[in-house]
Amino acid sequence: MESLTQKLEKTVAHIHNVKKTNPRVGVILGSGLGDFVEKMENKTVIPYNDIPHFKKVTVQGHDGKMILGTVGGVEVVALQGRFHLYEGHDMEDVVYPVRVLAKLGIETLVVTNAAGGVNLSYSPGDLVILTDQINLTGRNPLIGPNDDSIGPRFPDMSHAFNAKYIDILAETAAELKMNNRQGVYVGVLGPTYETPAEIRMFRILGGDVVGMSTVHEVIVANHIGLKVCGVSCVTNMGAGIIDQTLKHEDIKDEANKVMSNFTELLNRSIVKFSRV
Ligand code: 6GU
Repeated sequence: MESLTQKLEKTVAHIHNVKKTNPRVGVILGSGLGDFVEKMENKTVIPYNDIPHFKKVTVQGHDGKMILGTVGGVEVVALQGRFHLYEGHDMEDVVYPVRVLAKLGIETLVVTNAAGGVNLSYSPGDLVILTDQINLTGRNPLIGPNDDSIGPRFPDMSHAFNAKYIDILAETAAELKMNNRQGVYVGVLGPTYETPAEIRMFRILGGDVVGMSTVHEVIVANHIGLKVCGVSCVTNMGAGIIDQTLKHEDIKDEANKVMSNFTELLNRSIVKFSRV
């Protein structure tokens, strides 16, 4: 059996064979948020299906590619498409891409997602800078023997989202005359959307947005010691808040609408990250 380290070495060797890359920042793009890639420069695209130890992509609607390139002169690696637990993937496969990005040398991980609004003051189309998360999946990617060379057995999660990056994102949102929304991401397993009672519960618990990804990536990234920040795109409100029926297609359309703001927020912020 290949060890995790051996797998990572093989994966990174393949990527380096395609392009000698030394990215500072990794970006994981949520469903419908692919416009970011269109604005990247000096691009090299590697389909997940070509990357050793990445799960094969089959589900439509979820792209699977790694994009190496630059944003305002900063070397970036973007992942378009994630593996979700609700698809039946194993936890190690869900977080493997984060480990690969770390091995490629990123210092900063930007996680993004399409999420449901839990906070009553939010509206579809809002971008929310993540300040913290609540992992309600009942799962943790660090279960099992700890590799002390990666990080501690009991990682500190008091600063899961980097405070300086939150400030930079907020300042950039203000420059762009966007609503400066900051909130807590609630991570659930899915694949069902929530009931109205569950959404009310999340609000009582202190959640502002809800989605089916992200929390495990943030845990692994913190364990490794990466600086993490995140942005949710509110594509719809959680169940029971407004009169709506939740459909995945509508959610992707809504993400497409806020795309230019989203891309501009990330592009400007990434350039500023490299200065802290
Ligand atoms: Cl309402 N719930 C969850 N779990 N994920 C979502 C969502 C809602 N809207 C977009 N993604």
